[in-house]
Amino acid sequence: MSDKHDFPKTTVKQVVLAVLGGLIAPLLVIVMLVIMVMGIQENHLPDDPQKPNAAVDANIAPVATVEVAAVEEGPHVDKPGEQVVTAVCSACHAAGALGAPKIGDSGAWAPRISQGYETLVQHAIKGIRSMPARGGNPDLTDGEIANAVAYMANKSGASFKAK
Ligand code: HEC
Repeated sequence: MSDKHDFPKTTVKQVVLAVLGGLIAPLLVIVMLVIMVMGIQENHLPDDPQKPNAAVDANIAPVATVEVAAVEEGPHVDKPGEQVVTAVCSACHAAGALGAPKIGDSGAWAPRISQGYETLVQHAIKGIRSMPARGGNPDLTDGEIANAVAYMANKSGASFKAK
């Protein structure tokens, strides 16, 4: 047995290769990592920095938006009698509900017509007995009520001229 161990001789060439391998291998890994990270970033960045990313826009968009309806402008124009009667008055005056004088029933309207147009309009605006003020629709203007009274009464024997 010899005290001397028999190590293989390390040549200069082997040392150089070992050093190079030890340096180049981690360097390659770092370069690959950098390329990967840059690739991921490219996929997520918008092409044009000025153009907002649609996906981001959708994510940060408010849950709901309120659109305020345009306020009706210009002077109010009274609806014609026929329109008011069809929409409001005919609810009672078409069939004679609650004892309302029926449209076209000259007999029922004659004593009322004899009171005069102005009185009928005032009764329709303020209400009389079972007849509700403005036919129950406070949005109707005096002019619209007057139009409706003339329309109904004229269908029932009168010849009023709407105000
Ligand atoms: C809820 C039912 C009802 C509606 C809606 C209604 N009326 Fe009447 N109206 C009556 C009744 C009931 C009378 C009879 C009242 C009475 O003389 O006792 C009447 C009577 C009248 C008279 C006669 C008043 C008088 O002096 O004799 C006029 C005019 C009239 N209504 C106009 C209208 C007009 C215009 C509308 C629509 C804007 C309308 N009414 C909507 C129930 C209604």
